[in-house]
Amino acid sequence: MQQRVAVVSGGGTGIGKAIARELAAAGNRVVILGRRIDVLERARAEIDRAVGTPRVVPIAADLTVPSQVNDAAHAIADIGPVDALVNNAGAVITQPADGSLDALANAWRRDLDTNLLTAVLLTTALLDHLRRPGGRLVVISSAAAQRGGAGPHSAGSYAAAKAALHGWAFGLARQLGPDGITVNVLAPGYVSDTEIFGADWTPEFHASKIADTLVGRAGTPEDVATAVSYLTSPAAGYLTGQVIGLNGGAVLGR
Ligand SMILES: NC(=O)c1ccc[n+]([C@@H]2O[C@H](COP(=O)([O-])OP(=O)(O)OC[C@H]3O[C@@H](n4cnc5c(N)ncnc54)[C@H](OP(=O)(O)O)[C@@H]3O)[C@@H](O)[C@H]2O)c1
Repeated sequence: MQQRVAVVSGGGTGIGKAIARELAAAGNRVVILGRRIDVLERARAEIDRAVGTPRVVPIAADLTVPSQVNDAAHAIADIGPVDALVNNAGAVITQPADGSLDALANAWRRDLDTNLLTAVLLTTALLDHLRRPGGRLVVISSAAAQRGGAGPHSAGSYAAAKAALHGWAFGLARQLGPDGITVNVLAPGYVSDTEIFGADWTPEFHASKIADTLVGRAGTPEDVATAVSYLTSPAAGYLTGQVIGLNGGAVLGR
């Protein structure tokens, strides 16, 4: 049987690395994308070692830059049709302390670029290369899109950028459904053991996020990877156009 091809943006760290590992273990050839080639190379070595065979292809690209996305998409197209595209790259942009509108506008643009435009550019560049029928598109959003907030110093722009992904994904689901391609949004709550909160992470913040859940623990990158594994599987062909919460009960019923 032909090897399936999966693409995971932000696949060198945190949630994306766990998704890449899960999809590689399931037999996929997995392209991981990020800006830092050294980080991607380390992830490739770690996952290939864990899986016991070379399955990971690292490609460095800043996915906010159209020419770099185009170059990456051409390299991916040479590998073969894309069975699963996981738009996971993102970041919590720290909001400016100085209160100027210039600084605020800059932070909002960076948030929208990093959390929204990365997914829009990569998906658009790969659209003609998605497997038809059978392609699977997953967008990693956040519980912040459903209830606001995120890191200790983020403001509305992270939640707004993630929420914008939802409306875009619904339109894509309508557009691609007739081609047999599913599109879903996965909205994780707090997930520890990633780089996203950087120096803003504190034990108090961690404890407050756990207190928000019904199950009394933080999410893990593997929790997200398990859900993505199902959403990208051939078995998930009737599930499309949905926002799926994965948050330990921190957000109910949405
Ligand atoms: N951790 C949580 O609590 C949580 C909760 C809900 C949703 N999420 C979402 O889950 C996703 C993964 O986050 P994470 O927690 O695993 O954090 P992370 O470890 O910081 O991962 C983010 C990844 O995105 C990549 N990236 C960022 N900007 C990029 C760009 N312009 N071009 C290409 N790649 C870029 C980063 O690689 P480079 O820096 O090398 O480019 C990094 O590998 C994000 O979309 C995040 O918003 C996280």
